Amino acid sequence: MKIAHCMGCNQCWLKTPGICAIKDDYEKIIKKLVETENLWIVSDTRFGFLDYKGKRVMDRIMPMLNMTVCFRDGWMRHKLRYHALNIGLLYKGAADQAMMEDWCKRTAANIGGQSLGAIALDPQSAISSEARESPVMPGPIKHLVIINGSPRMAKFSNTDKIIHSFVKGLEETGITWELHNLSNRKEWDAAREAFLTHEHILIAFPLYVECIPSMMLEFLGTLPSERKQPAQLSFLLHGGMDEGNEFRFCERILQGLPEQLGCSYGGTLIKGGSFGIRTREDAVKAKIVAPYEKMGRMFAQSGNFFIPEAKKFTGPEQYPWLARKMVSLLFMKKVNQGFEDFAKSWGCTRPLEDKTYC
Ligand SMILES: Cc1cc2nc3c(=O)[nH]c(=O)nc-3n(C[C@H](O)[C@H](O)[C@H](O)COP(=O)(O)O)c2cc1C
Repeated sequence: MKIAHCMGCNQCWLKTPGICAIKDDYEKIIKKLVETENLWIVSDTRFGFLDYKGKRVMDRIMPMLNMTVCFRDGWMRHKLRYHALNIGLLYKGAADQAMMEDWCKRTAANIGGQSLGAIALDPQSAISSEARESPVMPGPIKHLVIINGSPRMAKFSNTDKIIHSFVKGLEETGITWELHNLSNRKEWDAAREAFLTHEHILIAFPLYVECIPSMMLEFLGTLPSERKQPAQLSFLLHGGMDEGNEFRFCERILQGLPEQLGCSYGGTLIKGGSFGIRTREDAVKAKIVAPYEKMGRMFAQSGNFFIPEAKKFTGPEQYPWLARKMVSLLFMKKVNQGFEDFAKSWGCTRPLEDKTYC
């Protein structure tokens, strides 16, 4: 089927509830999902995870949920547009079985369902524990290549706002930087060239369905697995949900990724609560992203994110029971009303929870 990457335009949640703005074959899949309880994804693997083609089937599933949020099983989740979906995975190629099962569980929980299990089609190609030669560490940072891995156009991207606060801290220490945006395919050649010819690279990106957005996975797949000179690859990972636990699966994938691209790992800075930064007034926006400036300074000084401040930056792994109760009682209605009001400002004329294909 012809299926494009989700580009995070949010139209399926805020403008035409339940209807994706991309007109390709995925609409046929959504219409089938509305009639079923179980979804099996059959996918090749790359970097020990689904390859970009498998991942984009999941990234495009957003119309099955809606913008408004609630607590489900102790976690903040988007409400279901239709019904719960169980998720199963048949995968071919190298991957860690336990990781794949974990991803199925996490993804299914997001859609109110259960994991149907992850099944390796060629179990003999499970990830080899044979250690590769450790990549050589480069010298201290003088210049940083930053890649914005968000599929959303840079000017609308929350990642972009976060990066611009982070680099203020970097600049104070005299480090220079350059930025490449993957949302614009015309920038891919320059991004690849910068990746291959510099020693320090930071990829900043939003969490998409518990892991790396499919578009960024496609870009990473175009990079060679070896390089001529040493390099360190670090990550800045953020997402809509607040709690640290949301990001742990993706963090484990990132820990193994640099080695597969011939780089050493410089750690991952993680923070939630980034949904809607771009939609806020300038003063509020600046306040939300301000803490990243300090992290830019600290990253410049330590050369990586293996510092206690980076660990603390993430915040709580899960909100305690009482905090969840208070949020439910006092703020949830207001938050969801805010989404309704925002949708109206985009010209949305239908309820956000519209069951479009029923
Ligand atoms: C397809 C898709 C999947 C997403 N999945 C998650 C997720 O699993 N967890 C989460 O916390 N946020 C998730 N988000 C929210 C984004 O991470 C968040 O809105 C982020 O701020 C977007 O950054 P950007 O504007 O730079 O793309 C998802 C958003 C989209 C569009």
